[in-house]
Amino acid sequence: MSVDLVLGPRPEEPGPPIGGPQAYHADAHGRLAADAATIIARYPHPRSALLPLLHLVQSEDGYLTTAGVRFCAHQLGLTDAEVNAVATFYSMYRRTPTGDYLVGVCTNTLCAVMGGDAIVEALATELGVDPGHTTGDGRITLEHIECNAACDYAPVVMINWEFFDNQTPSSAKQLVHDLRNGHTPTPTRGAPLCPFRDTARTLAGLPSRGGGGS
Ligand code: FES
Repeated sequence: MSVDLVLGPRPEEPGPPIGGPQAYHADAHGRLAADAATIIARYPHPRSALLPLLHLVQSEDGYLTTAGVRFCAHQLGLTDAEVNAVATFYSMYRRTPTGDYLVGVCTNTLCAVMGGDAIVEALATELGVDPGHTTGDGRITLEHIECNAACDYAPVVMINWEFFDNQTPSSAKQLVHDLRNGHTPTPTRGAPLCPFRDTARTLAGLPSRGGGGS
């Protein structure tokens, strides 16, 4: 017996080139350089700090910009091309401006079969944007994501990398409704949800700008 599965479209690849601002203003550069020094001091070789530094510049801009790539290269003694090669390999580094909340719907095989494709469609209709795009108010970016090793809880939605398990189209629509109305939903497990740039700063290994721990 054979079973035909109709899966959703592949996510757009390889993605747009890194662009945006070419350099930071002096005050932002000084602030980032101080944070970068803290991060680099944790490693025996400066270049080992590239991944957290990419999160650091992502926390500044909301995505990776030419300014961020050049900053990382300068801090670590790397070329722009070397930084670009790493930055474009990992999907957690964004190449386009990202909303306060990055809503990722897993559409790998199991999640897709369990309803992930239907969730993407429902959210695209609800938000009025296609996957890969941000709502006009800058609040929410919708995208396909790859398997996050949470297949037991399919279909999975991740908001700023926090898990929301066993979703349905209606529960996912409620999540984005809450976000757009200033209510922060509680993830199924893990850390509390916070805005995208704050999450990026946590991933850089730094405390929040408010001075609290991460
Ligand atoms: S297929 Fe969705 S988490 Fe594994």
